[in-house]
Amino acid sequence: MNPNSSSSYNLTATAVFFSSSYSGSDEPLFSRRLLFLRDVQILELLIAISVFVTIHSLRQKKHQGIPVWPFLGMLPSLAFAVRSNIYEWLSEVLIHQDGTFRFRGPWFSSLNSVITCDPRNIEHLLKTRFSIYPKGSYFRETLRDLLGDGIFNADQEKWQRQRKTASVEFHSAKFRQLTSQSLHELVHDRLLPVLETSETIDLQDILLRLTFDNVCMIAFGVDPGCLGPNLPEIPFAKAFEDATEATALRFVMPTFAWKLMRSLNLGAEKKLKESIKGVDDFADEVIRTRKKELSLETEIEKRSDLLTIFMGLRDDNGDKFSDKFLRDICVNFILAGRDTSSVALSWFFWLIEKNPEVEERIMVEICKILEQRDHQGYTEEEMDYEPVFRPEEVKKMDYLQAALSETLRLYPSVPVDHKEVLEDDVFPDGTKLQKGEKVMYAIYAMGRMETIWGKDCLEFRPERWLRGGRYMSESAYKFTAFNGGPRLCLGKDFAYYQMKYVAAAIIYRYRVRIDVKSGPKVEPKMALTMYMKHGLKVNMIKRSVPEIDNYYDQCHKGYKYNNGD
Ligand code: HEM
Repeated sequence: MNPNSSSSYNLTATAVFFSSSYSGSDEPLFSRRLLFLRDVQILELLIAISVFVTIHSLRQKKHQGIPVWPFLGMLPSLAFAVRSNIYEWLSEVLIHQDGTFRFRGPWFSSLNSVITCDPRNIEHLLKTRFSIYPKGSYFRETLRDLLGDGIFNADQEKWQRQRKTASVEFHSAKFRQLTSQSLHELVHDRLLPVLETSETIDLQDILLRLTFDNVCMIAFGVDPGCLGPNLPEIPFAKAFEDATEATALRFVMPTFAWKLMRSLNLGAEKKLKESIKGVDDFADEVIRTRKKELSLETEIEKRSDLLTIFMGLRDDNGDKFSDKFLRDICVNFILAGRDTSSVALSWFFWLIEKNPEVEERIMVEICKILEQRDHQGYTEEEMDYEPVFRPEEVKKMDYLQAALSETLRLYPSVPVDHKEVLEDDVFPDGTKLQKGEKVMYAIYAMGRMETIWGKDCLEFRPERWLRGGRYMSESAYKFTAFNGGPRLCLGKDFAYYQMKYVAAAIIYRYRVRIDVKSGPKVEPKMALTMYMKHGLKVNMIKRSVPEIDNYYDQCHKGYKYNNGD
């Protein structure tokens, strides 16, 4: 006999006994008993169904990586993950599912998608079959309020035109000259004086200010002066951060839900609307100022920053681009150039504090490069203790570049990215995709896959990027921090130069130590780029002259690390 049915019978019988004994009603005892019996059976049935559904849903985890609930799909697990660390959660699922799985959202939602971190699939969608994997309508719609038709959020001709124009600018000698000039000014006239006067700082905030000023200078020819004495309050910065955070939330909500919230102006959507207003105010001001300056400039002094070039172009109808489109260009380039390298540098400083031997090797490398200088015309102070790095010296910093790449492998500035399938297709790993399906590639998870990086994938080991002491790049489909294929990051070379220049200038002068008293642990925030949720509160400890000399001594003596791998 089934033990379950026996216990259910006893329960029913007991209930009926109590019901008949204590009832004072005039209803016939038999019909009351029947009614009660029916109630209890329904209750039991519901409990039995719930138990069955729970067991069945939880068992789905074995095959699908995540429990799948009726109606809700995998949403409950996602909602739970959003509250902790969504990137770690995604990595665990992907490791368990050999690199690819299908996320099933609630039946009424638009959340279904294939998620992958398999390099073969990533090469397939970013390069081999690029034409059938655009960003797609879902992605564009979700990001439209913030990014409009800018380069990150455009497909086909709209994207091609922006890419071509920006690419010519980014590869010009003038651009290179502008980047090294602006960086020199920002680091030596603003960053270092600010660090000089502060002991405990939020380094992420300082770096965001630096890269914001830098991208505005090189892309729009304006200097917002965000990094300066007393660190002025910049309403744009807060608005922009809030806007990227609220926009990212849309990706974990059913489309109808955020649209409803938007039309009712509620919750995160209310915050998004307000913050976009702050972003627009800044972009409008940049465009207005630039237009005014342009009308006053003579032919000779005409500038050639990216915004000015776009202002001179015409659309398909022969009309000048609208202010709205120029606004989109501004916002997209700020997202590209401000957030990415500053958050990467923040994770870098956090990682090297945990790995002091890496910091030592960077110091030895810098000292070795400075040793090779021709000292003529410089004082010892300028040469050895307050050096201004030259572009050719920055280029030689192979170990530093390896440490930055290792940072981006583990903490990529863009942790996940999205595509849509235009026609039925099959991934190299055998996953079948249907027209219209969404695809996410999990760049953060890639750095945690033993199948890609080996058993020590979780270790911070810059040496994995060196061959014979020289930095060696990896395939863009294994190291996808800068994307790959036709949409490879346009600012990659500039970003490495900028990060190396800033990192070397700081490390040479300071030991950067986490301020443990300053509160919560370091963890990523869920936004479009991987900000540190609570910033990076650090103490800046100035290196003494004997300490720096000690590194020079180590160079002379043939230091144990000889810049080899
Ligand atoms: C550590 C620094 C950086 C990282 C990790 C990074 C990463 C990326 C990634 C992942 C994409 C692809 C985004 C997508 O298509 O959804 C991208 C695109 C792009 N990046 Fe970067 N980026 C960095 C710095 C920069 C800088 C400093 C600039 C410019 C000042 C820049 C300009 C661009 C542009 C214009 C695109 C769009 C390319 C296209 O869609 O054709 N990036 N970047």
